[in-house]
Amino acid sequence: MAGIYIHIPFCRQACHYCDFHFSTNLRQVDQLVLAIGKELEMRKDYLKNQAVETVYFGGGTPSLLSERQLHFLMEKVRKLFPSDWKEVTLEANPDDLSEENLSMWKELGVDRLSLGIQSFQEEVLQFYNRAHTAIEAWRLLRKAEMPDSKSFRLI
Ligand SMILES: C[S@@+](CC[C@H](N)C(=O)[O-])C[C@H]1O[C@@H](n2cnc3c(N)ncnc32)[C@H](O)[C@@H]1O
Ligand code: SF4
Repeated sequence: MAGIYIHIPFCRQACHYCDFHFSTNLRQVDQLVLAIGKELEMRKDYLKNQAVETVYFGGGTPSLLSERQLHFLMEKVRKLFPSDWKEVTLEANPDDLSEENLSMWKELGVDRLSLGIQSFQEEVLQFYNRAHTAIEAWRLLRKAEMPDSKSFRLI
């Protein structure tokens, strides 16, 4: 099977322990999204007609993408690598789990969320320099019970 991984190397703030590539300069997000679109076009023959079964948006923080940016990337993949996707995953930070974002992701075709809770202990989250609090992490779990969340698989 073939899968496409799209890395969104931007975060609102830097967690002290993170080993991944990211920048906190969010002014460049649009430019990078366009560049990923170009790279997808350049690599459209790379998979030699293998069916793409999974699409994965990782980061960094793909949950900070706007509807326009995520729609642009999904449409590019859909057009350039046409197939029936079995799974579309988005890594989401707890502070991005608004009802608006949940509905937007669902509408755009995301069906699996990787939730970056990391810890339920306030002192650990502060030590890590995470953008969310322990209370928000617990609220997030409750949100996972909301009707809108039922259409996602959560990991
Ligand atoms: C790199 S993060 C990106 C998603 C999101 N920004 C977040 O922080 O959850 C994806 C997952 O990788 C895991 N991870 C494992 N090793 C890590 C490391 N050294 N630095 C950062 N995240 C790591 C985290 O638990 C996190 O949920
Ligand atoms: S939000 Fe995620 S990707 Fe960004 S710095 Fe923190 S752990 Fe790394």
